[in-house]
Amino acid sequence: MSKAIIIYDTRSGNTKLLAEKIMKRLEDLGTSVEIYRDKEFKSIDSIKSFDIIGLGSPTHGGQMAMTFKKFLKKVNQLNLQGKKLIIFGTGADPNSPPKICNDIKETVSPTGLQTIAEIGCVKKPNDEIDKEIENSIQKDMF
Ligand SMILES: Cc1cc2nc3c(=O)[nH]c(=O)nc-3n(C[C@H](O)[C@H](O)[C@H](O)COP(=O)(O)O)c2cc1C
Repeated sequence: MSKAIIIYDTRSGNTKLLAEKIMKRLEDLGTSVEIYRDKEFKSIDSIKSFDIIGLGSPTHGGQMAMTFKKFLKKVNQLNLQGKKLIIFGTGADPNSPPKICNDIKETVSPTGLQTIAEIGCVKKPNDEIDKEIENSIQKDMF
């Protein structure tokens, strides 16, 4: 069974909701999933024991949240070659989520993670995003 870990930042809950929807999709595909908020996750090294890593942030001032950026700096110390990355981001402006996803991807590129899905959402995730998640995350990707 594949093992996934999802780590996200949130202030008002939108990104948390998106993280939980991604968790449900992975579980439906037979993956075991652990989920954490960035500031409550301390054991950076343990990320190496997962096959799939989910990383997500809201947009703050056109960038990913500051605490999440700091968290990714620590992730960047790891060699995660061969592991799969699912990126997600939320924002109020439709241009923001794709930008945040791209920023996350570029930031963690030194780890060697392979991006398999990028999921952006404007503000609060609704039922429509479920379809997008279903299409974006498929069993044959891992
Ligand atoms: C301090 C602050 C700054 C924000 N800056 C932006 C921004 O620059 N661009 C944008 O599209 N949304 C911005 N937003 C909106 C949030 O990114 C958006 O509502 C997001 O879904 C919130 O996620 P959360 O509920 O997980 O905190 C900002 C929100 C806050 C609280």
